[in-house]
Amino acid sequence: MPLNTHAVAFAPGRANLIGEHTDYNQGLALPFAISDGVVVRASLLDVPRIEAVAVDVGERDSFALDSPGMARGWRAFVRGAAGELDRAGARLQGAELEITGTVPRGAGLSSSAALEVALVLALLAVSGEAEPDRISLAELCSRIENEWVGAQTGLLDQIASLCGRNECALRIDFRSLDVRPVPLELGDFTLVTVDSGEKHTNAGSGYNERRAECARACSVLGVDSLRDVTLTDADRLPAVLGRRVRHVVTENERVDAAVAALSRGDMAELGRLLDASHASLRDCYEVSTPAVEEAVRRCKRAGALGARIMGGGFGGHVIALLGPDAADLAGAVEVRPGDGARVL
Ligand code: GLA
Repeated sequence: MPLNTHAVAFAPGRANLIGEHTDYNQGLALPFAISDGVVVRASLLDVPRIEAVAVDVGERDSFALDSPGMARGWRAFVRGAAGELDRAGARLQGAELEITGTVPRGAGLSSSAALEVALVLALLAVSGEAEPDRISLAELCSRIENEWVGAQTGLLDQIASLCGRNECALRIDFRSLDVRPVPLELGDFTLVTVDSGEKHTNAGSGYNERRAECARACSVLGVDSLRDVTLTDADRLPAVLGRRVRHVVTENERVDAAVAALSRGDMAELGRLLDASHASLRDCYEVSTPAVEEAVRRCKRAGALGARIMGGGFGGHVIALLGPDAADLAGAVEVRPGDGARVL
């Protein structure tokens, strides 16, 4: 493909209707891409360097393409994007990158995946390199996060950002990596997110510890993933590991129950499933905080049919299902499913 002197890529953040902490356990989830996201404008340079500016924070970064080196914060994503694309065999050109975004950072709406995905698409486009298929791209983006940023996250956010479909949630099976659009027809009901006010980072929270606990449970049970374990298996484990497994097993069941509820238009059942997911994330997976509990209570007081913590946990946003006669809920922002990442 010919080089482009300029390329602009947009990648959305995501909401997750249900299916939390299941992705790295080869389970199920039901996220959707949202309209907020990250835009990366790339302009070709005639030197093999990346000159990046993060407009929203007023910071710059600069490095040679053949030795990106490690860095912290947003710079780790830029260096990781260049490094992983190079490792995957892309012939990158030097470029100036201007990054702007509308997804709040550290809020559980996947600003990280939006950043990785927009960077990778912009770098490929400005270099005239063909895009690999979207699942391979999601895997590449997740390596940026795992190996350059230090968060052992799964593929939920990247697949949602890359494969998003207007008006649909995506039922993702993280064992087969099958992605099935599920129409999100809510009638008079709406999904909103509410900020708990508590910032989180996946690298700096208990996220990596939860992932390690699941790996320990697998090794005690002698299985490769928690996908096929049962509640009886959970009962054989030491108490903490048993609780983690109990969450994963029941959460996978709730994802398919939510798909079924949506197909029947059964909003009461969908709300009940959101509440059950939250209770499990709070009591079994132990990723809630007092600020998140307060946000969930506010949603319920406003009449939400269901509300739950969303994303990695330890802060961030809550997602709630509101009926047509819900009371005013301060700070609630409606989220609707939009299309996935694209070169503009
Ligand atoms: C974060 C991670 C995802 C996923 C969720 C929890 O968003 O990036 O991979 O594990 O937490 O469901």
